[in-house]
Amino acid sequence: MHNTGNRTDAVRLTAVRKVYGRRDNQVVALDDVTTRFGRGTFTAIMGPSGSGKSTLLQCAAG
Ligand SMILES: Nc1ncnc2c1ncn2[C@@H]1O[C@H](COP(=O)(O)OP(=O)(O)OP(=O)(O)O)[C@@H](O)[C@H]1O
Ligand SMILES: [Mg+2]
Repeated sequence: MHNTGNRTDAVRLTAVRKVYGRRDNQVVALDDVTTRFGRGTFTAIMGPSGSGKSTLLQCAAG
């Protein structure tokens, strides 16, 4: 796998997938999300309601 990280990253997300619910009631909130946030940088997470912004931040927070 390609290594997207380096020591200047504050947070790295690699192929993150988050599914709520189970079986016939599943919602795929995040599907293969890979990104990074550099130290000392400012990032705005934007998108329509339900696009997964809060889920992304919850996963990034560990
Ligand atoms: N606890 C949960 N159980 C089931 N589905 C959930 C849960 N939390 C979020 N979801 C679903 O996951 C998807 C992403 O939701 P999320 O709350 O991350 O979106 P959002 O971009 O933060 O939306 P908003 O702008 O309304 O805050 C939506 O389809 C939502 O219905
Ligand atoms: Mg939200």
